[in-house]
Amino acid sequence: MEIKVERAKTLKEKPDQSNLGFGKYFTDHMFVYDWDSEKGWHDARIVPYAPIQMDPATMVLHYAQETFEGLKAYRDPEGNVQLFRPEMNAKRMRNSNKRLCMAELPEEDFVEAVETLVKYEQDWIPTAPETSLYIRPFMFATEPGVGVHPANKYKFVIILTPVGNYYPEGVAPVKIWIEDEFVRAVKGGTGFTKCGGNYAGSLAAQVKAEEHGYTQVLWLDGQERKYVEEVGSMNIMFLINDTVVTAPLEGSVLPGVTRDSMLTILRDWGYKVEERHLSVDELMEAGRTGALKEAWGTGTAAVISPVGELCYKGEEVLINDFKTGELTQKLYDTLTGIQWGKLPDKFNWIH
Ligand code: COI
Repeated sequence: MEIKVERAKTLKEKPDQSNLGFGKYFTDHMFVYDWDSEKGWHDARIVPYAPIQMDPATMVLHYAQETFEGLKAYRDPEGNVQLFRPEMNAKRMRNSNKRLCMAELPEEDFVEAVETLVKYEQDWIPTAPETSLYIRPFMFATEPGVGVHPANKYKFVIILTPVGNYYPEGVAPVKIWIEDEFVRAVKGGTGFTKCGGNYAGSLAAQVKAEEHGYTQVLWLDGQERKYVEEVGSMNIMFLINDTVVTAPLEGSVLPGVTRDSMLTILRDWGYKVEERHLSVDELMEAGRTGALKEAWGTGTAAVISPVGELCYKGEEVLINDFKTGELTQKLYDTLTGIQWGKLPDKFNWIH
């Protein structure tokens, strides 16, 4: 892939690293790559970060052919720049695009584009503890028209944002509302893809949870509202007695890179891991009896989010006395240790 570069005339001032928040500041440049049904992929370029002009009839604005990814670049203690398993994001984006009838970007082009832009903007990778450069690749339909059909034109764009913790309070237990009315996904739908529509559809339940004093929603399956699937925009894992349980990947659950990495680490440590259907009744019973030792959400943005309390149909159960569990903390320390280059890359995940 040939990538042309147009340098920004003026560069922005870098934000204070102790107060980055999540996704508030954007770097000086972005990557753009166009596709149409005649030329295929063309005009790969790094250009100044700027608004994108669109015709009001642009199809993404009407029928939501849009997919995205999320990954991070880190500085190791020697100052080297590292990415974490970018090929997993490349593959997932391809699968998302296939499901939404969008153009598919070759995985090696995805990785090369991320690598090239991050290298170009490497002065933006923060060095303060717990910070990284969040990478947001996304693709959307750019063809104007209001007939419903797969678009014939797409844009693939990558923007970068230096970030601190996703939640301002860092790794701290949250209260979770188990949602029994709204659902996030159904088998046969788009739950396994990272498309903007999944997130738009999830907001009503999140608002409802917040109105009840909870931070996030625990999603049940879309058919029976019986089995646990995800938490907020993250995968979820439970330590029940000595076994880690998480929902299987059967179409409605997002195949998280952090999920996969944590399951690999847990198996390596000798934990029993079960990817299986866990009913909300079994979960609440485990909460009542104390068999539920720990619970945590996993995702690229927050890495780990411990669950301190569950509420289902008015019944509340506390988990580990609303404290971050030992295993939860050890998983966070191990994964981020590898990502920030402080621990050996035993599984060959660093790029
Ligand atoms: C993640 O956990 O990385 C997410 O998917 C959240 C993101 C949409 C901000």
